[in-house]
Amino acid sequence: MESTSNETTTATVKIGSLTCRPLNPRFGAEIEGIDFSKPVTEQQIKDIIAAENRFGVTVYRNTCMTEELHIAFSRQLGELEKVYQFNGREVVHPEIYRAGNTDEDGNIIPASSRHWWFTKGNALWHADSAYNHHRSKYSLLLAHIVPKEGGNTNYADTLYLASHASEIIGMEREEGLKLIRELIDHCTQPKYTISVKWQQTGDMIFWDNRQVMHRATPFMDQMDVRDVRRTTVYDDGPEGYGIEVP
Ligand SMILES: [Fe+2]
Repeated sequence: MESTSNETTTATVKIGSLTCRPLNPRFGAEIEGIDFSKPVTEQQIKDIIAAENRFGVTVYRNTCMTEELHIAFSRQLGELEKVYQFNGREVVHPEIYRAGNTDEDGNIIPASSRHWWFTKGNALWHADSAYNHHRSKYSLLLAHIVPKEGGNTNYADTLYLASHASEIIGMEREEGLKLIRELIDHCTQPKYTISVKWQQTGDMIFWDNRQVMHRATPFMDQMDVRDVRRTTVYDDGPEGYGIEVP
């Protein structure tokens, strides 16, 4: 992100046709100016990416996006990850990853099931698809049903730390991992994080996994529904497959 540590303003920023309202002096902004029910133009995509590069986390409220529009818009940002089966079942749209607490039929995932334990990982700080050799660049998470309380998504500004750092060149592996863990602990202190509340169906959060780590906050996952679905864009840059350790 281009922000500097002495920046203290949350003044509105204009980027092309977009109005950006910073959530914090350092990173994160709510963005207005796009009608997602219409095709998004190439110029708008450029503005959206410029806003993303500037803020790391961009929030678009009440987009009225369907799953099909969500996929179409995401494709304009690059090649999408696909998962053809989820929890042993064939999925309707391989581009969509269900990151909430419901299955494909809309049923709440029962506590202590294998699937439920899998979802618990969302509560830990992470970058999406960090287990893939080909790392992800953008995540676009769209709310279909929001919980009444809790279930926010929190973000920490971690720059390249988040993007699959597995060792530090020039350090012993264990020593490097220890430093990476210490740096993550430092970056994820509450004073350096933002919490984005899901306000309504259609809210979409767009973030860059190379710039931030994220986690979901608790909610009543056996009583309330948090149906949020994600598309994930591959990193097509020169470091998309990581850096060779000499
Ligand atoms: Fe995630």
